[in-house]
Amino acid sequence: MKIDGKTRLLGLIGNPVEHTLSPAIHNALASQMGLNVCYVPFLVKEAQIQAAVEGAYALNILGMNVTVPHKQAVMSYLAGIDPLAEQIGAVNTLVRTDGGFFGYNTDAIGFIRELKSEKIELKGETAVILGAGGAARAVVFALAKEGIRRMYLLNRSVEKAEELGAGVNRVYGREVVIPMAMEAYCEIEEEHLLAVQCTSVGLAPDCDRCVITSEDFYRKIHTGVDLIYKPAETMFMKLVAESGGKACNGLKMLLCQGVTAFELFNDVKVPEEMAQAVYQDLCGELEMDDE
Ligand code: ATR
Repeated sequence: MKIDGKTRLLGLIGNPVEHTLSPAIHNALASQMGLNVCYVPFLVKEAQIQAAVEGAYALNILGMNVTVPHKQAVMSYLAGIDPLAEQIGAVNTLVRTDGGFFGYNTDAIGFIRELKSEKIELKGETAVILGAGGAARAVVFALAKEGIRRMYLLNRSVEKAEELGAGVNRVYGREVVIPMAMEAYCEIEEEHLLAVQCTSVGLAPDCDRCVITSEDFYRKIHTGVDLIYKPAETMFMKLVAESGGKACNGLKMLLCQGVTAFELFNDVKVPEEMAQAVYQDLCGELEMDDE
């Protein structure tokens, strides 16, 4: 990487930021595409969010990603917000425009991009979503936007599923989301479901845990996507595969959110083979089987 007078800066703000894979994604794409940009992490404390966003703009920074716990707080300091990010109530990508940064949620856009690349049909389909936290919010609003027919939203604290479900159903003016308690999964009568695992259960080092273990549940799943990518094969994925379903981890979603942000920052289109090369690098970094 050659830094010169024309190098533009990209970065990530969050707390903590030490374990992020985003610099690996963005710097690899920049190098492959021959763009004179450099991506670095910035540790930002909660009280400094406004100063960080305004300071980044003042420093002519080209774009920023935003991670936990700042995805809501940054929304107050932007020149505009994409409608999907507005619905989700979280922004993870700030794109430089005249007059300030414009906010997107590429977790949501990237998730849909991944499903499309896996040729998973969404329109008119039914899904079951496990979890109702921040990650689930992006997934649920994104699937609703894509015209999914129905989502069973299962969460340990049913009130959180009810609140998120009510928000989606209000926006779409129909009962897209059916909120349920996690243990009520046996009441789902539909079959041929897409399942998305959005809880933190099963994340390393708790690799042998999973929110639902019943075989009856997994029999109904044609594809199971776990947002977790450490370990590379979660217990949820094992159970999906054992019942004959296709299982994916969250690494492609992470990659797709990064590629989408990179395209928005730099106003370019990343060729598929370059994204694939970065995916192989990430697999290597995570020492996982990348089949
Ligand atoms: P994230 O941003 O990763 O979504 P989060 O907003 O803290 O993180 O959400 C974590 C999700 O994992 C929630 O759905 C949470 O369920 P509750 O809302 O009931 O807390 C779920 N979760 C975490 N630990 C869990 C556990 N031991 N059993 C079941 N669900 C769990």
